[in-house]
Amino acid sequence: MLRRCVDIVGTITVLVEHEHPIWAGLALPKQWMTFDPRHIGTCRWIVRMMPDYVDASVRGARLGVTRRQLGMLIGGAALAACATTPPPRQLALRRPDGVIALPSPGPSTTLPLSVALAQRQSVREFTGATISVAQISELFWAAQGVTRSSGGRTSPSAGALYPLDVYAVTRGTLWHYLPDGHRAEQWVAPGTLAAELREAALGQAAVGTAPLLVVVTGTTRRSSGKYGARAARYVTLEAGHCAQNVLLQATALGLGAVPIGAFSDDAVRHRLGLPDERTPYYLIPIGSPKGGAA
Ligand SMILES: Cc1cc2nc3c(=O)[nH]c(=O)nc-3n(C[C@H](O)[C@H](O)[C@H](O)COP(=O)(O)O)c2cc1C
Repeated sequence: MLRRCVDIVGTITVLVEHEHPIWAGLALPKQWMTFDPRHIGTCRWIVRMMPDYVDASVRGARLGVTRRQLGMLIGGAALAACATTPPPRQLALRRPDGVIALPSPGPSTTLPLSVALAQRQSVREFTGATISVAQISELFWAAQGVTRSSGGRTSPSAGALYPLDVYAVTRGTLWHYLPDGHRAEQWVAPGTLAAELREAALGQAAVGTAPLLVVVTGTTRRSSGKYGARAARYVTLEAGHCAQNVLLQATALGLGAVPIGAFSDDAVRHRLGLPDERTPYYLIPIGSPKGGAA
């Protein structure tokens, strides 16, 4: 069923949360169509414009079946996905395989801030060039680096409680930034991790193809002791500050990046093996821009 579905339309994404399919998505030219398997009997369709996110590979795909037939096919795909969903991975919950000292951070480029602001734009296609440890170090530092003896960081934080944790995925490695001492925990990651995260992000190609994926996460409990219900708002705002720092630093390093918010929190959490209380806010694919400077 799934095979036939893919043959017909090109790209189908099934989002699974708590090991149940919550919806299936079908990429069509200029549209993202979603089918909610809870309405399998009525084939209720939700169609909305998502021109940014449509996979270029399906442009021009021809639709040879009715919507009702497609609904049944995608419903079948969702159920098949349910049956084959692997259990959550323990990756970042395990003791790290190693902790490394990152190269000293600091002003590594002389690009004026106003130029970085003017040059920043979302980049979704990358060359095959890998990212160096020195570049990863600069990006982590921009995200959450300690800049003062008081413990203050590059990103502001409500009450200086610092609820964010920043991870990175490179080929075969998961990194977790430790601002204190500018170090990183590392785990050996399955080679399929980037492809799995791409699936978790509605099949967005940049997530699977970028040589570096920065993941900004937050733990609201760290701020709620002081701020109660308002902490959730503060952590979200802080994730935005952090992501913008990363985007500007990527630009200053001559790299391209895009902030991605469309993904299943549970799927990302399970693939990385994050604690349940840790929410992923942004996936940021980063790499050398295809076709030159961003
Ligand atoms: C909260 C947020 C979520 C976003 N999510 C996605 C996403 O899931 N996929 C994507 O390709 N771009 C995503 N973007 C990037 C926007 O599409 C992009 O910023 C917008 O088109 C403006 O283009 P620019 O970044 O080049 O200025 C997101 C941006 C923001 C601020």
